Amino acid sequence: MLRTAFLWIHVSCGALWIVVSLSFVLAAGATAEHERASFAARVAERFNRLNLIAIALLPLSGIANLGFVARAHHYRLPAAFVEVLGAKLALLCMMAGALAIAWSVTGALAKEQSRGAADPRVPRLLWLYGAMALLGAAALMLGVWLAGSA
Ligand code: HEM
Repeated sequence: MLRTAFLWIHVSCGALWIVVSLSFVLAAGATAEHERASFAARVAERFNRLNLIAIALLPLSGIANLGFVARAHHYRLPAAFVEVLGAKLALLCMMAGALAIAWSVTGALAKEQSRGAADPRVPRLLWLYGAMALLGAAALMLGVWLAGSA
């Protein structure tokens, strides 16, 4: 019961991260170019906060998942499982790094007067959010592999 609850929290946070990241890319991409900077300055902060919640809960629920799996396997996990877990950890670090950069870009956008359509920070934010969606999707796929193999 507790194991299922942690797994659900874990999967929901992974899904939240991907949906939020992809939504930002799609919404900002669909906004007219001259309005994109003001749109990004207005909404990116909220998207950043949602992703912060997801990325704070992911490792916590992940460690709980790991605890349940390790106990079920008498603390002897297959090498492939540990390798995939390491890859997920590396992806998580990259996701956190991308979010930290997005946070500072968003802060600069909100603080300073935007340079309109030519503002280079807006495409940077779009690329960052695109990368965040891809990294999250890769971690999610590795997670599905982990759950299938344990
Ligand atoms: C420190 C980071 C992480 C740790 C320690 C971790 C740990 C785990 C473990 C041990 C499992 C297997 C659970 C089981 O078999 O019962 C799992 C599954 C999973 N993880 Fe993670 N994870 C981490 C990060 C992530 C990230 C960043 C994502 C996605 C954005 C993610 C998405 C998933 C998914 C979708 C599953 C499969 C659930 C299922 O199909 O039932 N994990 N994780």
